Amino acid sequence: MTHPHGNDELFALRSKEFKFLSAFLSSHTGIVLPDNKREMVRGRMVKRLRALGLDDFKDYCALLEADPESELEHVVNAITTNITQFFREPHHFTLLTGELKRLAARPGGPGRLRIWSAGCSTGEEPYSIAMTLVDTLSPAQRRDALVLATDIDTSVLDRAARGRYSAQSTQRLPPGYRRRFLGVEDEEGYLEIAEEVRECIRFRRLNLLEPWPMKGLFDVIFCRNVAIYFDKKTQRALVDRYANCLRPGGLLFLGHAESLIGVSERFDVAGKTAYRRLP
Ligand SMILES: C[S@@+](CC[C@H](N)C(=O)[O-])C[C@H]1O[C@@H](n2cnc3c(N)ncnc32)[C@H](O)[C@@H]1O
Repeated sequence: MTHPHGNDELFALRSKEFKFLSAFLSSHTGIVLPDNKREMVRGRMVKRLRALGLDDFKDYCALLEADPESELEHVVNAITTNITQFFREPHHFTLLTGELKRLAARPGGPGRLRIWSAGCSTGEEPYSIAMTLVDTLSPAQRRDALVLATDIDTSVLDRAARGRYSAQSTQRLPPGYRRRFLGVEDEEGYLEIAEEVRECIRFRRLNLLEPWPMKGLFDVIFCRNVAIYFDKKTQRALVDRYANCLRPGGLLFLGHAESLIGVSERFDVAGKTAYRRLP
């Protein structure tokens, strides 16, 4: 077999090894890899095999079996799909703005406010949330507001924490936000997120399948385009855990191709792929 990118036979991913890799990934992360993803997996893993001086997936699977813990991070970082954008699904941010205003209008103001971006990838989602927060609430109103941004993939979290983005990727920011929340473009064509936005966010590594260390209820959870890679059973368990850690009436945002039909009955529809936790 010759592969367009060269080195072909050497890095062939046979069915047996693909099955092993997909079982490994699904048990550790929930991500399900159907057969048609074999070529994608091969392509994404070759760099790791090269770094280890291996040219056969059989040897790599043996290594994974012998020492799963130390290799897990590399497999996860290579395989996860991290596509994201600033203000993806703009209607979610319109709904979020309304919710923040509603909470701020309560007697005593919004008080403690916790928003979770679960599966935050390279940070565009939590920064969009934090910009909305800073734009909607006064400094006094957001004194106890925090955005928790988590992902299983340590390489995307490193990039997110840097808060530095290409001018091209910031095109979708609402008018005025770019000037207000991003610095000046440097010679390489990159801009940095303003401190008042960064300070609202805490980035942490978290595997959604493992226990969650957070205490207290969330007001809003974004988990968009993450569970879409999981099987139904894992999706149901995950959404049930979200319902448990959302305050009654709190909002859950899902990706544009996701829904709670057949997944949970603990939510009401609040908008397009947006849900409100039932009391
Ligand atoms: C396609 S991105 C979605 C980014 C963002 N939420 C959005 O919608 O633009 C999916 C992210 O989910 C993360 N992910 C996948 N499985 C995970 C798991 N078990 N625990 C935590 N994060 C996971 C991936 O690393 C990836 O960064």
